[in-house]
Amino acid sequence: MSEKCMIKVEVCCGTTCFLLGARELLALADDPPAAWQGRVEVIATPCMDACNGNRFSGSPYVRINGTLLSGATRDLVEQRVNAIMAKPQPERSAEQ
Ligand code: FES
Repeated sequence: MSEKCMIKVEVCCGTTCFLLGARELLALADDPPAAWQGRVEVIATPCMDACNGNRFSGSPYVRINGTLLSGATRDLVEQRVNAIMAKPQPERSAEQ
């Protein structure tokens, strides 16, 4: 994640998630909402193993800043990311 990006969106592109909608979610990488520019990184990842144990019904899975989201849709991902962006960010230390 680049220095300027504060939100990382990992889209599972394992077979199950890809077949159940990950392709549409990856469009967020090419066509993100304008407010996301330079602040949100959308990347594809291999199977997150969240589908193991017959949990296919939760696909597609997305991880947003480390938090797993099941049944992800473009609208749901946008809502979650926008909610994170709306939160006040902690001040960064001058010592970093
Ligand atoms: S294919 Fe997405 S969690 Fe396994």
